[in-house]
Amino acid sequence: MQHAAFEGIETITLRPATVEDAPALALTGAATFLEAFTWMLPGPDIVAHTRKHHAVEVYAHYLAEPGSRVTLAVTGPAVGCPDQPGSVVGYVLICAPELPSFPVLPTDVELKRIYLFSRFRSAPVLDAYGRIIANLRPAQALMDAALADARALGGSRLLLGTHAGNSRAIAFYRRNGFREVGTRLFQVGSRQCSDLIFARQL
Ligand SMILES: CC(C)(COP(=O)(O)OP(=O)(O)OC[C@H]1O[C@@H](n2cnc3c(N)ncnc32)[C@H](O)[C@@H]1OP(=O)(O)O)[C@@H](O)C(=O)NCCC(=O)NCCS
Repeated sequence: MQHAAFEGIETITLRPATVEDAPALALTGAATFLEAFTWMLPGPDIVAHTRKHHAVEVYAHYLAEPGSRVTLAVTGPAVGCPDQPGSVVGYVLICAPELPSFPVLPTDVELKRIYLFSRFRSAPVLDAYGRIIANLRPAQALMDAALADARALGGSRLLLGTHAGNSRAIAFYRRNGFREVGTRLFQVGSRQCSDLIFARQL
């Protein structure tokens, strides 16, 4: 009902995820990861990595953790189904830091994942009343939700790791006040990769 004015336009609303969202989140997590990174790694490595890190149980675990929060980016209803819920096309996940080689502080929070299908990155974002929020892109809306959740969890600093070649994400993080503070090594399938670590105060 609230989307009737935007029939035919792809819109995004945000909502907190619950444990019931784990299956949808696992599919969207895997698909957005593949869309973003298939170019970077051999097929078997990326398939092994995706199966392991985007399993339903992984998301169910995060969604049950008191120190984690997931916000979903959801489309408006499908064409011809104005009363049906939309689909998950992006998300942001924050959690207690999982950066073994980095000296984390007790009040650090990690922005573990922020992903949006490219098709929806410019879609209008709707507020709780179904009105378009001017000048707000979906990625920024997800980041704003992550910052608010991290503060609500008592966090004083938000950390994240990203591949040095992920220039679009890095530009987005810099615009949001993140600065480089270190590096880390991690495994994707059989390959060892390195990430830059960024941080911003909350
Ligand atoms: C990381 C990610 C969520 C950032 O979202 P995004 O939409 O790309 O980022 P931004 O909102 O900053 O938008 C970037 C583009 O929009 C433009 N833009 C940003 N804010 C704008 C605004 N208010 N109005 C108009 N244009 C804007 C930027 O100039 C840039 O333009 P370009 O498309 O011509 O390059 C998204 O790129 C993504 O899902 N990437 C794949 C997954 C990924 O890498 N995740 C991070 C892993 S660490």
